[in-house]
Amino acid sequence: MATSAFFIWMFLLSLASSTQLYGWIDINPFKFVKEELSRERPSHAFASYDFDKYSTAEYSAVNISPQEGQKEKDKIESLPGQPPEVEFDQYSGYVTVDHEAGRALFYYFVQAAVNSSSKPLVLWLNGGPGCSSFGAGALMELGPFRVNKDGKTLCHNEYAWNKDANIIFLESPAGVGFSYSNTTSDYKLSGDYRSAQDSYTFLVNWLERFPEYKSREFFIAGESYAGHYIPQLAHAILQNSKNTNQTRINLRGIAMGNAYIDFETTIQGAVDFYWTHALMSDEIYHGLTSNCDFTLLNSSDKVCLKLINEALDAAGNIYSYDIYAPSCNSSLKFHSVSAFDPCSENYIKRYLNIPQVQRALHANVTSLPHPWESCSREINRNWKDKQLTVLPIIQQLMARGIRIWIYSGDTDGALPVTCSRYAINKLGTPVKTVWYPWYTQDEVGGYAVGFENLTFVTVRGAGHFVPSYQPARALVVFSSFINGVLPPPA
Ligand SMILES: *[C@@H]1O[C@H](CO)[C@@H](O)[C@H](O)[C@H]1NC(C)=O
Ligand SMILES: *[C@@H]1O[C@H](CO)[C@@H](O)[C@H](O)[C@H]1NC(C)=O
Ligand SMILES: *[C@@H]1O[C@H](CO)[C@@H](O)[C@H](O)[C@H]1NC(C)=O
Ligand SMILES: *[C@@H]1O[C@H](CO)[C@@H](O)[C@H](O)[C@H]1NC(C)=O
Ligand SMILES: *[C@@H]1O[C@H](CO)[C@@H](O)[C@H](O)[C@H]1NC(C)=O
Ligand SMILES: *[C@@H]1O[C@H](CO)[C@@H](O)[C@H](O)[C@H]1NC(C)=O
Ligand SMILES: *[C@@H]1O[C@H](CO)[C@@H](O)[C@H](O)[C@H]1NC(C)=O
Repeated sequence: MATSAFFIWMFLLSLASSTQLYGWIDINPFKFVKEELSRERPSHAFASYDFDKYSTAEYSAVNISPQEGQKEKDKIESLPGQPPEVEFDQYSGYVTVDHEAGRALFYYFVQAAVNSSSKPLVLWLNGGPGCSSFGAGALMELGPFRVNKDGKTLCHNEYAWNKDANIIFLESPAGVGFSYSNTTSDYKLSGDYRSAQDSYTFLVNWLERFPEYKSREFFIAGESYAGHYIPQLAHAILQNSKNTNQTRINLRGIAMGNAYIDFETTIQGAVDFYWTHALMSDEIYHGLTSNCDFTLLNSSDKVCLKLINEALDAAGNIYSYDIYAPSCNSSLKFHSVSAFDPCSENYIKRYLNIPQVQRALHANVTSLPHPWESCSREINRNWKDKQLTVLPIIQQLMARGIRIWIYSGDTDGALPVTCSRYAINKLGTPVKTVWYPWYTQDEVGGYAVGFENLTFVTVRGAGHFVPSYQPARALVVFSSFINGVLPPPA
């Protein structure tokens, strides 16, 4: 009885997922700009996030709850369909970040495969805003397992980042993936500020649950909209340390991949990338460059908005996360030559909605707003505050000795490599190690530049989800970041 219900349900689910092939928030940069400018938003929404709030009189200490016995409860015995010989421990569960609202964040934690007790602790965040760090980060990019085509079994990821670190994947904010709030109005109140606060509360409570990591070297890594989350959270960590005269979190560095950092250079970078990659006509390019001032771009600028619309249409239906990759549709018909299966997201969605899988993950709670999905459109649409730029925070972190890496897959059309380069140029920090090709497996893995207090690295032939497209190169970048050395020259 239960079994047949399960199969009917799986069948319905597979129908549903075959009609909705693309769950990631589509962040074609022109669509993004268009949406940002057309949004009905409160006047404060574009105002600068008050990132110094933590240091003012308003500061109230973060609520730390007792966590005894929770760690043992969160231990995953094994994930359904996992391959044999898993040599590291896995944990997952919830950390309550607001008791009154009943808001809880879901995490998945994998220990380093070897010498876990001497390896650093890393928090990984995906973007959106509204996308799942567990679905994308852990199961499609850098986690120890990938989901097979059957949507039921897992295989090892040879280039998993837990070779070098213990990694927490956090579903943030509440309403994303398995994270939830019992106060459903919370789903309409997410924003940069709350995400940073909740993630900070998560971290201090998580460290109570796993006290052996309290003084461990700590890094934050992530991609895309996490280009906002990461510096904001890093800033919250430093401000809280200052306010409490206590270093609760031993923050050493942050790494941001194909990151959304700064609005103005994102438009400029996208325009130049699309033209130089033959995704835009000369007419639209010249129209945009001669008529638009991206520093002043606003919704009353009808000429530029029209050109941005034209740019969006003229690129056609390409997969913006990796401009040369086959789409999931076409790879169903033609065998894909790329090692990365563009339909992976469908397998992940199927896997994470299997009740046994949710039970194994301690995620089978009645409070979830909907089945597990890769991105929440509700969270994305209702985002309350979004800093126009996080460059001032990055500058503060640089001055305070935090290691900062910005890396970029160079075939991403969603947040192209040019956007990162222009954003870094705006900082005006001096070059220490000039641009050079870095190598792995006897090939150029990409290029690197060492700036004062900041490192920039490209990953050749990688799209937006860098470790999905170039797993070996991505692991070299990650190891170099953790070890504080530039990627290997020839
Ligand atoms: C949310 O509500 C459910 C049902 O009352 C409860 O079991 C759960 O603990 C609540 N979650 C939080 C984070 O308070
Ligand atoms: C693990 O730690 C031991 C002792 O410090 C060391 O000899 C060994 O090389 C380490 N292994 C790895 C894979 O880091
Ligand atoms: C932190 O230290 C400063 C200077 O010693 C002191 O004025 C302040 O009260 C301390 N704050 C806390 C929360 O202990
Ligand atoms: C909006 O754009 C127009 C046209 O570029 C410009 O003249 C105006 O100053 C901009 N407004 C703001 C508030 O930046
Ligand atoms: C994939 O196929 C679906 C259904 O036929 C269609 O709606 C969608 O636009 C296609 N996507 C791409 C990228 O071709
Ligand atoms: C979660 O799993 C447990 C153990 O199998 C089960 O007793 C409980 O009813 C499940 N809860 C939900 C909401 O599915
Ligand atoms: C780099 O960091 C040092 C100390 O941490 C600081 O004095 C210097 O101003 C920083 N330079 C830049 C460009 O951020």
